[in-house]
Parts: sequence; C-alpha cells; structure tokens
Amino acid sequence: MRIHQFGRLMLLILIFEMMLLQLVGGTDVDEDTVDIFELIQRVSTGLGKAWNDNNYLPLEGVIDQIHHMEEHQTKYFPIFIDTLRHKFDAQSLLSNWITNVGDIADIIVQRYQLMIYYNKYKDNVQQDMVQIFANWTVQPRPSSIVHSVEKLHNSAYGKDDLTQSLFSKLVVEYETDLKQVCALKRSAHQFAYDLYSMTTLTEIKGYITLVFSWMVLRDRGLGNFTDQMSQMNAEHQQRMLDSRQILRKVLRYTGRTYWRCDPQAGNHVLGKTYAEITRLMQGYLENEINLSAESSCYETCEDYQDARVEGCHKDTICKDEMKCTGRVHSCRLIGSEMNVCHGNETTLRRYEFISYDNGDRRECRGGFKQAKSFSYHGFWRCDYCFCLCDEPAALSDRFFSLRQTISDFQQNKVVTGARFIKHQRVFYLQLQQGELLPSGLINQSTLDWIPLQTFDVTHVDIRSGFDYHELSRKSRSLDLDEITTDNDSLIVTGARFRVIDNHLNLEVRFSQLNFTTGRLLQPDVNSFWLGNNANKPREKLRLKNPDKSSRTPYGSAPLSTDNQFMEFISSSIDMDAAQSTVPFIDIQDVVTNPALPISGLGIYHKGFKGFGGFFAPKIVTFNFLKQLLEPQI
Ligand SMILES: *[C@@H]1O[C@H](CO)[C@@H](O)[C@H](O)[C@H]1NC(C)=O
Ligand SMILES: *[C@@H]1O[C@H](CO)[C@@H](O)[C@H](O)[C@H]1NC(C)=O
Ligand SMILES: *[C@@H]1O[C@H](CO)[C@@H](O)[C@H](O)[C@H]1NC(C)=O
Ligand SMILES: *[C@@H]1O[C@H](CO)[C@@H](O)[C@H](O)[C@H]1NC(C)=O
Ligand SMILES: *[C@@H]1O[C@H](CO)[C@@H](O)[C@H](O)[C@H]1NC(C)=O
Ligand SMILES: *[C@@H]1O[C@H](CO)[C@@H](O)[C@H](O)[C@H]1NC(C)=O
Ligand SMILES: *[C@@H]1O[C@H](CO)[C@@H](O)[C@H](O)[C@H]1NC(C)=O
Repeated sequence: MRIHQFGRLMLLILIFEMMLLQLVGGTDVDEDTVDIFELIQRVSTGLGKAWNDNNYLPLEGVIDQIHHMEEHQTKYFPIFIDTLRHKFDAQSLLSNWITNVGDIADIIVQRYQLMIYYNKYKDNVQQDMVQIFANWTVQPRPSSIVHSVEKLHNSAYGKDDLTQSLFSKLVVEYETDLKQVCALKRSAHQFAYDLYSMTTLTEIKGYITLVFSWMVLRDRGLGNFTDQMSQMNAEHQQRMLDSRQILRKVLRYTGRTYWRCDPQAGNHVLGKTYAEITRLMQGYLENEINLSAESSCYETCEDYQDARVEGCHKDTICKDEMKCTGRVHSCRLIGSEMNVCHGNETTLRRYEFISYDNGDRRECRGGFKQAKSFSYHGFWRCDYCFCLCDEPAALSDRFFSLRQTISDFQQNKVVTGARFIKHQRVFYLQLQQGELLPSGLINQSTLDWIPLQTFDVTHVDIRSGFDYHELSRKSRSLDLDEITTDNDSLIVTGARFRVIDNHLNLEVRFSQLNFTTGRLLQPDVNSFWLGNNANKPREKLRLKNPDKSSRTPYGSAPLSTDNQFMEFISSSIDMDAAQSTVPFIDIQDVVTNPALPISGLGIYHKGFKGFGGFFAPKIVTFNFLKQLLEPQI
C-alpha cells in the first residue's frame, strides 16, 4: 500500500515538474531575470494549479526556484542583516527588527528546511512524522506556521496604518543614519528592496510549507481541505498585495542617491583615499622689503594684493627653494615677531607651523627660524606679511581634464560608478562600466574602469581650455549638482567637465535602454548630454576658517545641495598656516555593491564643520523597481 502510494507520488512529481517547466518557459530561462514579483506569481500559479489538478506538491521545482532566487539575491542584493547584527546601536529600529522579526523568520525557515528534508527523503521518513509535521504546521496556535507568517507580515508592514509600518520607518532611519549607509553601501532605495525581498522570501517559504501540509493531510484522506486552502490562498495573496503596495509607496519618497562615506576616522591616506590641489593659494610669509619693487618698506602689508616676490633679502627668513615664484596676493600683517618651522619639499608645505607665542611647546625638526620686523633707515619698519602664493609651477597640481569619458556602448556597456583620480598632476573623473543585462542588472564579471585618456599638460599639443582647465585665483570654483532625469528609460553612459562662467561644471551623457531586453537602443543616435545650465543663480557655499580636511576626527556628511558652488581656498591660517588647498578631493570608488546601472551622476561637497571637507562624485541608482512594480501597459 505504502509503496504503491509512493510510486504515485513520484510520478506526480515528475508530471508536475514538466508542467512547471512549461510554465516558466523551458530550462533555458535566464534565472538572473527572475525578479521577486515574478517569483510570487509563479509560486502561486504553480501551486494553485497543482492543488486543483489534485497533484501532489511540485516541491522540487518550486524549491529550486526559491533557491535560484536566493542565489540571485545574494549576488545582486546580498542578505546582509546577519552580518551586520553587531554594527548597529542596540536601540536602533533595525536591531529591534532583527531581533523580533528575525526570530519569527527563523521559525518559518526551520520548518521550511524540515519540509525540504521530508520531501527529499520521503521514502525513508516515517509517515507519522510527516503527518504530525503537517498537522502542526496548519494549526492556528502560537508559533505554528500559519500564525508565524501572519505575525511576520504584521510586524514588518503593520496591520492598520500602513504608512506607520516598521518597514517604512526602517527605510527612513536608514536614509538618515550615516552608520547604516556607510556599512551597507547601498542607496536607501536599494535597502528598501532588500528588506522587502527578505521578508517576502520568508513569507513565500511559509506559504509553501503550508500548501505542502494541506496536501499531505489531503493525501492521507483526512479531508479535501478546499475551504482551508482557498482561505489560506486568499490571505497569502492579500499579504503579497499589501506589501507590494507599501513598497511602492515607500519607494516614492526614498532617495536613490548613493555617496561614498569617509574611511574610518584617522584613515584618510593621501594618494589612496584623497588627493589634493597643491600650491594654488598657499600661505606665504615674506618681508615687505622683498615684496616691494623698490626694496623699500614705505607701504603696509595690505597694499600688496597682487605682487611678485622680488628677491631674497639677506636679513630675511626667505630661503631660495621656498621662494614663491608666482604671484602673491591677499597680504596682511599678522604679527611683529614669530617663530617659523619650515616644511620640506616632500610634503609641499612651506611651513609646518608658525608660532606667535613663546610659550608654544611644539617641536620643530629643522629648528625654528625667527621672523621679526626690523627698522629701515631708522624710521620705516619692515614687517613680515602673510600672503597667499599662487604658483603655477611644476609643484602645483591644479588641472582638471575636460575630455569626455564614454562607456563602450558598442559592447552594450553602461556606467556603473565613478571616482576622481589624479594622474600626472591632472584630475580626472574616471567612470566604471559594465555590461547591461535584462531587468536593469549588470553582469558583474564585466566590470572595469574605463581607461583614462591621459595627457601631459606641458606638451605643446595639449591646450588649456580644451583638454584641461587650469585652476587660478580667478577661476577656482566647482559647481555642485546632481545631473539626473525622471525618465526611467535613460541611463548614464558618459561624463565630462566643461567651464561655465569660470566654474567647472559637470555634464552627463544619457542613453536609452530597453528594460526587457537589456539593450541600449541605438546609442550612437539616441544619446545626449545633460547639465545644469543654472537658470536660477547658484548659491555659493563658504568654508569658514577650515582646518586641513584629513585632520577631521568625524565622518563627513554631505553638506551641499544642487545648484550650489564652492571655491577652492586655502586652509586656516591659524590652524594650518594656510598650507593646504581645500576642499580635498575624495578619490575612493563610488560604486554600489553589487554594481548597478545609474540614472544620474553628481558632484557634491561633504565634510564636518571646521574642516575643509572633500569634493566627491555621487551616483543615482537606476530605478529598476519602477518598471517591475508599475502595472505593464
Ligand atoms: C492534529 O492535531 C490536533 C491537535 O493536536 C489533534 O486533535 C488531531 O487529532 C490531529 N490530527 C491528525 C490528523 O493528526
Ligand atoms: C470537499 O468537501 C466538501 C464537504 O466536506 C464538499 O462539499 C466539496 O464538494 C468537496 N470539494 C471537492 C473539490 O471535492
Ligand atoms: C631681496 O633680497 C635679495 C637677496 O637678499 C636682494 O638681492 C634683493 O635686492 C632684494 N630685493 C629687492 C627688490 O630689493
Ligand atoms: C619631510 O617631512 C616628512 C614629514 O615630516 C619627513 O618624513 C621627511 O623625512 C622629511 N624629508 C626631508 C628631506 O627632510
Ligand atoms: C557575463 O560576462 C561573462 C564574461 O564576459 C560571460 O562569460 C557571461 O556569459 C556573462 N553572463 C551573462 C548572463 O551575460
Ligand atoms: C524618455 O526618453 C526617451 C528618449 O529621449 C523618449 O523617447 C521618451 O519619450 C522619454 N519618456 C518619457 C516618459 O519622457
Ligand atoms: C523592448 O524589447 C521588447 C522585446 O524585443 C519589445 O517587445 C519592446 O517593444 C521593446 N521596447 C521598446 C521601448 O523598444
């Protein structure tokens, strides 16, 4: 009797799997294109059909699909919660969520695993055990599966007021919590989808376990359970609709911008995490006698607003290798007597620090030099002036490439990330590219950084204003914009800088894609450049007496918004002897994990009050969910 029954089961499973294959369109379906919404659909259609046809459960097929989905999730949307348990404050909503919802989910997942086991070793498992399992699963009592699925859903999405759900609160908290954004490397939009998928996958597992149980009970001749099954189906459908609805609502106000956090405090490394503009406006101490064309001291420091250093007077602190060979400006008197600790060539600092106070206990490796006003022809005083030196020479890195970068669209590659890079004194905005796949995904094994088109600014054929922009006292602003579009069939395929009103200004190239096929649509014809042409006047962001950016003990937060600009200026005279040009430039990769197409690119300023901060690129992740969530027309 039993053997006979098992033979029947095996046959039914076989039949069902063939049916399922037809359902999903054959074995050559690319699993990568299966999204969670499609999975929900396939699972309920498949199981519903099996139930109605009085087949036994199509377990292998469905379990395989769930498994593929999870692999897909780990590849594109890593299930991260567990690995992050320890990173967040115990009081945070996320920790609570992990504890409560995580526990319920554990019960469901354990039962699901047990079901897989029973199904796999059905020939060896005692049938009583399976029946007890099934009976327990469907009983409406605490900690049974029926109950757990309900509880999980309600804890995540709320029962009554959907907008007040834990789910939406978590997403809001994520977006405003630097620690979470920095740890996960995803936009809030992606995070919302992660949470949703995790919850939904668990709910689906619960649902499958329930269907399995009803089928076992029916197969044992304990009833036909038509009513129970249809009630359970209805509840499941309702839950799926509810959560999808909430996801859609939440995504409407959730940002898709991803920016890169600072390295851990104290781990800013020159050349690795940031780079500097050098000797654009560097603090420079010079005696008036050597600022004056007549070698006199008849004027005041403030009179020197655009001067040349005429020479090195023998009584002054000036050292030839430290002499400003460009123009000095913004001179002023800062004291009549001070101790100067010189820097050295490797750090490009003229001074490590300047001390105005005899009680200063700082040490100076090379020994202090005293700078003291002296009298001139008995009557005039020759003072030391503190000026800024603008020295466009070999030690000054102040160039931005104006050449465009375009992804290899012939190979169907699109931009997935960006970073600043300094090469031979020139800054470039380098782009990462990857091959576009259907459903707005990227083939992760094709990712590469588009090779720079480098050049040597001193070469005769390389032209200022064409190949590069050279920062100067008159032209040293960077426009801060996020260039993006609302059109979900456009994605980024290139970027370049241009100069508008003496400001460096970002332009981004967009191309049209077919979401379903994952192909760019005639990118050589259908692409265009977009920038912020500033119809409204730009707002100037100012730094107040900023210390060197890399000295900040705090993580930077984005401080700029669109349609602003900021100038490169010298760092604080008091704190840094104005030796650095700030902001610094963050050169870390800005790429989400995993990489996705982007529908926008921007330049912004991040920092912390009192420090120079960093300019950095940011990206806007592609809204692939919109196409999946909106009903197809
Ligand atoms: C299922 O469990 C309930 C409650 O424990 C019990 O009364 C019932 O007899 C069980 N049914 C079967 C078919 O095992
Ligand atoms: C299931 O059983 C109920 C009564 O127990 C009966 O009315 C119904 O017709 C049965 N349904 C099927 C599909 O056999
Ligand atoms: C500045 O100092 C140098 C060296 O001492 C001296 O030769 C030169 O005459 C001075 N410059 C002027 C303009 O006097
Ligand atoms: C320059 O300064 C750096 C940092 O203070 C030091 O490590 C280096 O040895 C100095 N180089 C010379 C040539 O003095
Ligand atoms: C991804 O790229 C690799 C290497 O180019 C290729 O072998 C593979 O087939 C691609 N995968 C998809 C899904 O296109
Ligand atoms: C999106 O852009 C494409 C190409 O420029 C255009 O054909 C299409 O009409 C736009 N769609 C919307 C909704 O604006
Ligand atoms: C995208 O490709 C699919 C499949 O080839 C096609 O049916 C659809 O019309 C295309 N959409 C657009 C906007 O070209």
